[in-house]
Amino acid sequence: MNQKKFVYLLLIFGGILFINACYYDKADLLYPKSATVTCDTTGVISYSQRVVPILQAQCYSCHSATGGSGNINMSNYANDKVIGLNGKLYGSISHATGYFPMPQGGNQLSSCDQAVIKKWITSGCLNN
Ligand code: HEC
Repeated sequence: MNQKKFVYLLLIFGGILFINACYYDKADLLYPKSATVTCDTTGVISYSQRVVPILQAQCYSCHSATGGSGNINMSNYANDKVIGLNGKLYGSISHATGYFPMPQGGNQLSSCDQAVIKKWITSGCLNN
């Protein structure tokens, strides 16, 4: 490949990366109101009504009740509670250092979904 072509390729890939970066970074800034209005973390968070739907959509496909990826079993209350209490659930979805960022290969959970799960955990991972 000659030098000119290489420079063009660099520009194209650089451009794609740049556009993606802007897109993801600014979403929260562009829609701050809708996020706060629709995100209800008041009161007691229900495991079955609020937490399970999120985990089911984002996690259970890889983390089944037995033999889940990375030896993390989810998909039922007892299992979900274990990683809720040992810090791995929130560590992974908040992309904290020292944890594998989850869902693997997917977009990070919305800040609202993270907040809902955090509240469920800090309230003691109730089975409600
Ligand atoms: C596409 C498959 C996939 C999905 C979806 C996924 N995971 Fe994982 N998860 C993995 C794999 C594979 C590992 C093992 C670590 C590795 O090899 O990167 C892992 C590891 C973990 C760990 C262990 C992290 C640690 O620090 O020990 C936790 C906790 C976890 N996942 C939670 C979740 C949660 C919560 C979700 C949903 C928000 C989720 N995962 C979605 C594949 C997945």
